[in-house]
Amino acid sequence: EEARRAAAAAPSLEALREAMAAYDQCDLKRGARNTVFSDGHPAARLMLIGEAPGREEDAAGRPFVGRAGQLLDRMFAAIGLSRTSPDAETALYITNVMPWRPPQNRDPSPEEVAMMTPFLARHVELAAPDLIVATGNTACAALLGRTGITRLRGRWAEAWGRPVMPMCHPAYLLRNPEAKREAWADLLEVKARLAR
Ligand code: URA
Repeated sequence: EEARRAAAAAPSLEALREAMAAYDQCDLKRGARNTVFSDGHPAARLMLIGEAPGREEDAAGRPFVGRAGQLLDRMFAAIGLSRTSPDAETALYITNVMPWRPPQNRDPSPEEVAMMTPFLARHVELAAPDLIVATGNTACAALLGRTGITRLRGRWAEAWGRPVMPMCHPAYLLRNPEAKREAWADLLEVKARLAR
C-alpha cells in the first residue's frame, strides 16, 4: 500500500526515481550499493523489463551492463534499436522489476516482486511505451501475473493496457545458446509490430 501511494504520487520519471530511492520497506535495499532505475531513452517506443541488477549493475547504478546486457545490446542492435539512440523511433528504454540487487543474485521472492510492482506499473505509465518486452519469469510474474517463460515466450500478451512480448532472459540465452533461434523469431515479431 505504501509503495502504491509513493508511486502514484510521482508526477514524472525523475520523481519516481527519487521515490524509489527513498523507499525503505524492501530488505534488498540494505544490501545494495545503488538503486538501479533505468537506462536508455525514456521516450523510446519500446521498453524492456528485466529482473534485477547483478553485481556489475549494482556497482554501475545502471541496468544490463554485464555480460547479459552486452548480449541484450547485440540482440536489439540486430533489429535496429539501441539504448544510446537519441531518436525515439530507434531507441530502447530499459529497466528491471527490482531496483536492488538480491544477495548472491538469488531470484527475487514473490513478496519482493509484489511489493515493487506498483513502482513498475507507474514507471510504465510515465514512460508510456508502445510495446513492452518482458525478459524472463520475474518480469512475466510482475507484468502478467504468470510464469512459465518457455510457454509464454513468442506470444503477445497485455499488461496495464499495453502489448507485451515475453522473451527468454539474455542470461538464460548465454547458458542455453540453442534458445537463441526462438529469441530471434521473437525479436522479428517485435520489429514487425513496431513497423505496423
Ligand atoms: N539481469 C537483469 O535482469 N537485469 C540486469 O540489469 C542485469 C542482469
